[in-house]
Amino acid sequence: MTSPLQDSPPPPGDEAEVSSEELLRLIMDLRARVVADAELGLDARPAAPKAAHRVDLPGAGGGVGPAGRGAPARAGAPRPAAPSPRPAAATLPPRTASPATPAAAPAAPAGSLFRAEEKGGWSRFAQRPAEAPPAPAPSPPPGPLFSPDGAAFTPAPRPSPPWRSHPSPHAMVTGAWGFSLGGPDVPVGSRVEAAAVELRAVREAIGDCARCRLCEQRNHIVFGMGNPDADLVIVGEGPGANEDAQGLPFVGASGEMLDRMLSNVLSLSRDEVYILNVVKCRPPNNRTPEPEEIAACRPFLDRQLAALRPKVLLAMGRPAAQTLLGTTQGINALRGTWKVWDGKVPLMSTYHPAYLLRRPEDKVKTFEDLKLVRRRYDDLGGRRRA
Ligand code: URA
Repeated sequence: MTSPLQDSPPPPGDEAEVSSEELLRLIMDLRARVVADAELGLDARPAAPKAAHRVDLPGAGGGVGPAGRGAPARAGAPRPAAPSPRPAAATLPPRTASPATPAAAPAAPAGSLFRAEEKGGWSRFAQRPAEAPPAPAPSPPPGPLFSPDGAAFTPAPRPSPPWRSHPSPHAMVTGAWGFSLGGPDVPVGSRVEAAAVELRAVREAIGDCARCRLCEQRNHIVFGMGNPDADLVIVGEGPGANEDAQGLPFVGASGEMLDRMLSNVLSLSRDEVYILNVVKCRPPNNRTPEPEEIAACRPFLDRQLAALRPKVLLAMGRPAAQTLLGTTQGINALRGTWKVWDGKVPLMSTYHPAYLLRRPEDKVKTFEDLKLVRRRYDDLGGRRRA
């Protein structure tokens, strides 16, 4: 027979004890979420129209595929023109001792995109006002450069790289880097020049790729973008619709979230990191890339990473983490702990921004992962250039 007490509420003392423990846990949980919300802003607000991360080199964004070689890339959502006080295109802020004369800004057609500096060192790409296209600056005579050992010398004239003499899809690669090879920001013989040259060779090796079926529906090969001298390299899964349209990685909603991760938690901008994907063509309907598609792109990913020689790697999402680590472990097991890529580079895995848009409750974990990345980056002498 059932005792009437069995259906009764617990004695008042017991109830108070359970409630306070639970309350404390809830408060701690809430606090962590509020902090992550504030830092990552990962709430699923509808994405605001975003400027395309592109530069206005000839053929920039021109990809390989149905859009045609060197065809002007389609921009993302339309955005009002944002006049810039400093419309210098395609150059990074000088970082190294390189007193060479400024590079000529490439002529840009009205309505194309240029890089605009904003407050706090943040740069983005905005649309050039159609009515006032800047006149191309005359080419300056080659000035003295510094060799790696610091001695000044005037270099012999170097032959123009092919993309300067005739716009080609490879200009996209240069554009995506945000500077011109051979310009004043890229000292001859420097590590960054070697990386940039190798990256260009990788892009040329990819060519008009048809190594897997992802080529069938792509509009652009999304090679990667960022600073060839980056100390942090971020690896995503594969281009989405916006990336496929623009030829650049992480320019859609996931990209906005990635930008917040970078600026709010890592204190880095896109100009300071390099961003690429395990597959360079968009999987239809944003499905996960198949193993054979990843395998077809793998040699190029490895060459890019070897050229970049990052101090720290960040893998976003399961396919990136599994590909880089050669494991079948899931992202829940991989994230939050340091692994090693290629026997020497510390690699952190975390959730993909697109996943966090669907599951914002996991952003707290990503926030923790990114804090680990930031600490390791600093410990290893990762540079901040902004
Ligand atoms: N997701 C990715 O993994 N990469 C991109 O470039 C965009 C979205």
